[in-house]
Amino acid sequence: MGIDYVKEGKIATIILNRPEALNAITPEMLRQLSEAFVDFRDDEQLMVGIITGAGEKAFSIGADIETMLPEMKKARVQKLPEPPTIMCGLTTWKPLIAAINGACLGGGLELALACDLRIASENATFGMPEVTLGLIPGWGGTQRLPRAIPLAKAEEMLLTGRPINAQEAYRVGLVNRVVPLPQLMSAARQLAELLCKPAPLAVRAAKQAILQGIEVTLEDGIALERQLNDSLLTTEDFEEGCRAAIEKRRPAFKGK
Ligand code: HXC
Repeated sequence: MGIDYVKEGKIATIILNRPEALNAITPEMLRQLSEAFVDFRDDEQLMVGIITGAGEKAFSIGADIETMLPEMKKARVQKLPEPPTIMCGLTTWKPLIAAINGACLGGGLELALACDLRIASENATFGMPEVTLGLIPGWGGTQRLPRAIPLAKAEEMLLTGRPINAQEAYRVGLVNRVVPLPQLMSAARQLAELLCKPAPLAVRAAKQAILQGIEVTLEDGIALERQLNDSLLTTEDFEEGCRAAIEKRRPAFKGK
């Protein structure tokens, strides 16, 4: 029970491993998740992360109602900080893929929304049921969902709490693709390997330009893009990329 964190070459996999409770996130799991994200961000060898849930029923159905939500209430009263995660307080420009293997609700969907790409199994469902508990999402859901899908659909999900299925999630652009459950992890790994091929600093700069750029004016976004592109012009990988293109061979990028 808890979080499994596995590194294989350039790819790290984080698994929410509490299938008997549909991978509901406990305070201890949130702490472990935070540690895994810090390590992923800081490990120079790692380029791409995959996040998934154990079992065949759920990615995660969100915060554990019996332990996480009371702890949150206590922490708010005592003004205690929450462990930083990709949902709140921790930023990584390395790409993250959510491999969604079933119910993806509340905090589970907020975790998936904090990833860059989402692959869903055919049995996946997506929802923000917080209003049915008397809450609203607290890990970025009200902010990231309307940035990910059309506003009317985001409002419908957030105001009613009703879930949508994988096909609808695909249709509204919430997930990049839908695959049969047995193929989910191989599809996620293929995508991760694809993300390991281009120059890593360029991939990270592209993510940074996109995510910081959508928060500012177009003019400021273009200035940010220029600044990031300028910083890439002096990298060894840029030289290698150009040389390899001229010599018609695969580039050997070093992340420098
Ligand atoms: C703890 C939960 C749980 C939850 C379900 N379980 N949801 N345990 N926290 N959020 C437990 C059930 O008690 C049950 O345990 C087991 O998981 C299976 O659930 P069932 O309801 O029996 O299964 P099923 O009928 O298949 O329905 C699955 C479900 C339903 C549709 C996912 O469980 C559901 O709607 N759950 C509520 C999910 C939810 O409200 N999530 C949002 C949480 S708030 P036993 O021991 O009886 O088998 C949140 C906020 C995050 O995420 C942000 C905070 C800042």
